[in-house]
Amino acid sequence: MTIEPINGTQIAESVQTVVQKHGAVSEELIPILNDVNRQLGYLPSQAIEEVARLLHVSKSQVFSVATFYQMLSTTETGRHIILFCESAPCHVVGGREVWRRLREELALEPGQTSADKRWTLATVSCLGVCGVGPVIVIDEDIYGNVTPDMVPDILSRYN
Ligand code: FES
Repeated sequence: MTIEPINGTQIAESVQTVVQKHGAVSEELIPILNDVNRQLGYLPSQAIEEVARLLHVSKSQVFSVATFYQMLSTTETGRHIILFCESAPCHVVGGREVWRRLREELALEPGQTSADKRWTLATVSCLGVCGVGPVIVIDEDIYGNVTPDMVPDILSRYN
């Protein structure tokens, strides 16, 4: 996915197209936000305002939905989202060292996006694959039994 700078017209057009597709009804708020998020890469404040205006709901209602669901983001994210499992079962089998290496390689703190918009780093609770911990998920790809030395190679697969 390529993320280009987005201007106000593109945001308005994107929201209007999605709302037309779903219908301007509050019951469609989540699918609408999901589609806009997918198109724009995140939900800028102008998109939230436009959705609220078209659906005749409050901005705070739209914002609370946008910030509640993990699949939605109100901040711009990188081309690749790295999720690192920070739960105890992964931690005790080497996760701590993998996490240190990951942060060194990326020079990012959790929740941050790299200046070149290549990466967003985030931590998550158990991903349900503890048997192969430590675990890193990049976009749709799950990496298990990760060691610190594997981190640079894994990262090099993404541009
Ligand atoms: S604790 Fe990491 S996947 Fe379950």
